[in-house]
Amino acid sequence: MPHYHQLGQVPRKRHTQFRKADGSLYAEELFSTEGFSNDYTLLYHCHPPTQIIKTDDPVNMAPTIAEEKMLQHRCFEGFNIRPEKDFLQSRKAVLVNNDCHIVLAAPQKSMTDHFYKNADADEMIFVHEGSGKLLTPYGEIEFGYGDYVMIPRGTIYQIHFNDAKNRLFIVESFSPIRYPKKYISKYGQLLEHSPFCERDIRRPKNLVTKDEAGDFLIKTKKRSVLYGLHYAHHPFDVVGWDGCCYPFAFSIHDFEPITGRVHQPPPVHQTFEANNFVVCSFVPRLYDYHPNAIPAPYNHSNIDSDELLYYVDGDFMSRKNVTRGMITLHPAGIPHGPHPGSVEKSIGAKETKELAVMVDTFHPLMLTEDALNIENENYTMSWAE
Ligand SMILES: [Fe+2]
Repeated sequence: MPHYHQLGQVPRKRHTQFRKADGSLYAEELFSTEGFSNDYTLLYHCHPPTQIIKTDDPVNMAPTIAEEKMLQHRCFEGFNIRPEKDFLQSRKAVLVNNDCHIVLAAPQKSMTDHFYKNADADEMIFVHEGSGKLLTPYGEIEFGYGDYVMIPRGTIYQIHFNDAKNRLFIVESFSPIRYPKKYISKYGQLLEHSPFCERDIRRPKNLVTKDEAGDFLIKTKKRSVLYGLHYAHHPFDVVGWDGCCYPFAFSIHDFEPITGRVHQPPPVHQTFEANNFVVCSFVPRLYDYHPNAIPAPYNHSNIDSDELLYYVDGDFMSRKNVTRGMITLHPAGIPHGPHPGSVEKSIGAKETKELAVMVDTFHPLMLTEDALNIENENYTMSWAE
């Protein structure tokens, strides 16, 4: 999805001899998430990335489904997810289907003695609280409040936090997450009407080659099972890479809102898309400027998608009793709209400071036990108050 980039040294021609100072060959690796028929990157390792020396017993990480089917508006207090030291243990899948898993996490500690690879899913890590660095074979990406950190499936990484107070909203996508097609030119440039452009995309920096032998544990998740694979060389032994498939960061604060004289529909907030779901960013913006405009959204009947909203910060024009980190789920099949009083209250308002991330899935989401543990049960009837 991102554009061509190169870091470090690569040979003049691909698939040709590329030698170290001692005359031995570097090991070329083609990395892509869709076979040989889409974007890819070529990486040059000091050692082949294939040398497994030991395997651990697999660990089941599958979420426990509590409600497979339902038809009610639901609400979850995301900040009630308990902080946990370990990054992988801290991740709690709350809403899931075959296209994506919605995960909340409050990790306290950096990953230092092992690496992680999600072999199934692209990961979109939205940083609500906290900051740190993502370390990858491509280099480092610094992240902080409001960043979407985008990691193609199969990317080996370590995540380091600056302190223990971190809140993450993670989407695992079983298909590649991309820029929306409507923002892309025939040949791949972000078009003039797109709410963000290439300059807003932060690519890996500071490629440091770790030419180290030893025992390097890569915890690799496949089909919700975590496999401990030990390799003979450091996975970040890359001297150079080039291509179009690599992790990057994009800040929600760099999303330029599209506004109008009357209420604009949710697609103007679209930020990313994948098979059967989209991601939208709701950011501070001026309200509609028609003299009789109603800035609050109209009621709408989302028959073909579950609408999930993750509240980040600011005031929310259409809802009462919103807390930071709250998730609301408005399932396909029944209409939803502003809470009583919100429409009148919005008239004449000039701007909103709301900050939120929306995920609309085209197939229903199932609720896990971790979701029910943080549910706000008063929400379903809250329009009738
Ligand atoms: Fe909606």
